[in-house]
Amino acid sequence: MRWIIDTDAGIDDAIGLGLPFAPGLAPTHILLAVTTVSGNVHVAQVNVNVGAVLDVLEAPTPIYSGCDRPMIEPRVHAEDFHGPDGLGGAGLSKTTRRPEREHAALAISRLARQHRGALGLIALGPLTNVALACNLDPELPHHIARLIVMGGAWQARGNQTSAAEFNFAVDPESAHVVFERFSNVIMVPWEVSLDQMMPFELFERIRAGATPRARFFAAMTRIVYDWRDQFGFTGVPLPDPLAVAVALDEGVIARAVQARVKVDIGHSVGRALSSLDYRHPQPNAQVVVQVHADVAWQMIERAWTQ
Ligand code: RIB
Ligand code: CA
Repeated sequence: MRWIIDTDAGIDDAIGLGLPFAPGLAPTHILLAVTTVSGNVHVAQVNVNVGAVLDVLEAPTPIYSGCDRPMIEPRVHAEDFHGPDGLGGAGLSKTTRRPEREHAALAISRLARQHRGALGLIALGPLTNVALACNLDPELPHHIARLIVMGGAWQARGNQTSAAEFNFAVDPESAHVVFERFSNVIMVPWEVSLDQMMPFELFERIRAGATPRARFFAAMTRIVYDWRDQFGFTGVPLPDPLAVAVALDEGVIARAVQARVKVDIGHSVGRALSSLDYRHPQPNAQVVVQVHADVAWQMIERAWTQ
């Protein structure tokens, strides 16, 4: 399978970007491109972060820069969580790589046509690029073989508002468009990563690795101890790596529910809520509610200690 990862790299995105480069996955899975979007940090910073991650992975993957703001809402970032540079403020955010000239949305459309039926798209940030690609190319949902979205909150346990998860809350309109246009989304909601966190002992084993990748991982994730102190986390929530693991190995899914996911674009307390209509005659998503986390953790350890 060939993949595009659309990302607002942040720390968990960066960890997820490593998974296709775990030993033994290529050539079954090939990362064709990384597209970048405004989210955790400004898209210009995301471009640098993705370049730095691809450098340490020694990956030949091109970067396509995307939307620098949501469809309607003003920009929202998460430097308080991911650090001022989006990679833990550890001085990692530097690269000589530059994005290609083509816009991310156009690249998604072009690559989906070129690899019709054999290209998967993994969305790890706000869905601004994916929605724009749908509007530029209405046939896109028919060309993308699999769409995996990290986002939403199936039990409305929000992390950005009381009801909404960050990626949907940053750009509710784009999330609404994507779930109205695609009929086969695999949605990995926030609660899964909250209910199934990586144990600290494994996290520290990866951080203790001696390879350049492990040292990069360790530097980038020093900030995770701040998360523990600030939020009382008993482990490490890794939403984006879980979504990538689900994409690369559907056996990671332990339980999923089929439903019509509707994203609220109203302006009440429920804005960006992802509601699940189990009775709808036309479901549009498999919502992953439980994973075999040990499989995902193995992928992460293999990718980042190599
Ligand atoms: O809510 C978690 C999501 O928001 C993750 O993708 C994280 O990187 C942030 O973008
Ligand atoms: Ca993300």
